[in-house]
Amino acid sequence: MSEHVSDSAEWQSLQGLAEKFSAVHLRDLFGSDPQRGERYAAEVADLYVDYSKNLVTDEVLTALFAVAQRAKLSEKITAMFAGEHINVTEDRAVLHTALRLPRTASLVVDGQDVVADVHGVLDRMGAFADKVRSGEWTGHTGKRITTIVNIGIGGSDLGPVMAYEALKEYSQRDISARFVSNIDPTDLYEKTVDLDPASTLFIIVSKTFTTQETLTNAREARKWLLSALGDDSAVAKHFVAVSTNAEKVADFGIDTDNMFGFWDWVGGRYSLPSAVGLSVLITIGKENFAEMLGGYHAVDEHFRTTPIERNVPALLGLINVWYDTFLGAQSHAVLPYAQYLHRFAAYLQQLTMESNGKSVRLNGDPVNFQTGEVFWGEPGTNGQHAFYQLIHQGTKLIPADFIGFSVPNHDIGEMHDLFMSNFLAQTGALAFGKTLEQVTAEGSSEKVAPHRVMQGNHPTTTILAEKLTPATFGQLVALYEHITFTQGIVWEINSFDQWGVELGKVMANQLAPKLTSAEAPADDADSSTNVLIKRYRAARGR
Ligand code: F6P
Repeated sequence: MSEHVSDSAEWQSLQGLAEKFSAVHLRDLFGSDPQRGERYAAEVADLYVDYSKNLVTDEVLTALFAVAQRAKLSEKITAMFAGEHINVTEDRAVLHTALRLPRTASLVVDGQDVVADVHGVLDRMGAFADKVRSGEWTGHTGKRITTIVNIGIGGSDLGPVMAYEALKEYSQRDISARFVSNIDPTDLYEKTVDLDPASTLFIIVSKTFTTQETLTNAREARKWLLSALGDDSAVAKHFVAVSTNAEKVADFGIDTDNMFGFWDWVGGRYSLPSAVGLSVLITIGKENFAEMLGGYHAVDEHFRTTPIERNVPALLGLINVWYDTFLGAQSHAVLPYAQYLHRFAAYLQQLTMESNGKSVRLNGDPVNFQTGEVFWGEPGTNGQHAFYQLIHQGTKLIPADFIGFSVPNHDIGEMHDLFMSNFLAQTGALAFGKTLEQVTAEGSSEKVAPHRVMQGNHPTTTILAEKLTPATFGQLVALYEHITFTQGIVWEINSFDQWGVELGKVMANQLAPKLTSAEAPADDADSSTNVLIKRYRAARGR
């Protein structure tokens, strides 16, 4: 038996299919199978997933399922949900799915009643949110809190800001949230410049509570607050923390009574449904937050219990592997037709690229194939007038996910019908294009006709739900989490560590003194960095 999945006969058979695939066109696949649109569709919770416009056939899908079996995908799903330490480089369980287990479930991991812990924190978050929302929790001077400022970065920012934006319709409109992440001082400045400190609540979110950007922003935010409110005792009413590190929170000067905890088995990029989502919970309320968790859980249950052949996240993850590793796609577009999801692609970039941007297998061997596609996108229809041209007529293979909702959050005139007609038209145009005969029949001159030909055969997946609600939102995020997991398993990489990013954090901390020290810096970096440091210092008068 071969050592790696990529050495297996199943893998080779996919390679063989990929070689033949350049001759296949979606026009022919639809032409030869009038039922393709119905056959290649599935439902997971409230999400209808049409994968018929993908470059796959029954033969390809069967071969992908065989690879999944070879990779022991089902067994690995079971291991993740059971809390086995599948994050081997950090020796940790990967249990973000436990964050959305109902109160009645039971799960004991490493001797700890995980469900009781999770709901204990959720109850404290709910009680705190109620107080802020009702005005019972006031600032130091007795004013109501009207603005929440979440300070965090990476997973401690991207999930909350994306969810806050996505679920704005469900938020209490007299409390708004802002998100400071960048250590560029401009971020903190612009997000606080027009705020009244007396009615501002800072939530400092950091799993480790050691992240340079977050702690620096938090320290400056505290100075900003105290310069207006004077007294150190104001901190207790204006600062709360979300972290796994109580000691560091206390060192920073935040009372641990005002801290909401989570656990090392929650990866930063999977942490939105934990206490990291506190800003979202405060703005949308605990009932809506619970609905969101229910949405996540519905997809978790589907992923945990459904055979791979009918398992939607597994299927979509396998199709992504097909494009990336076998057909050579470099990137994957995510195109929500929902303005509320305008930060979804940014959020997915961390989820997918920090998870699967790896080149070493679990056993330390290098991979010898392509992993980790570049995720990117913007909401439609805006993207149509920007980068879609490259997808339509460029030379690159770019699989794209179209995400839409039948019922609008706001129904104004004919707008939603026009919006969704764009949504539906695009995937058809991408798949079927326009032939030279069609273009000529429409009256194009011989000179212009070739420029108007659309080759088509550009693959898309359509995800359609009835309405963007907290529940469907949770379903969507869980869907992408499990797609990402599936890809990592087939590639035999660890989707749950991020050593590359850790290195960047260490190097920035080492370099900082060279920019500020009174003495001239030792020329001990590389020659490029040495010159850049000098130019920087000169501009700063050092
Ligand atoms: O960017 C690297 C990273 O480690 C992410 O994985 C994490 O979400 C982010 O930094 C923030 O870390 P923390 O929550 O510990 O401040």
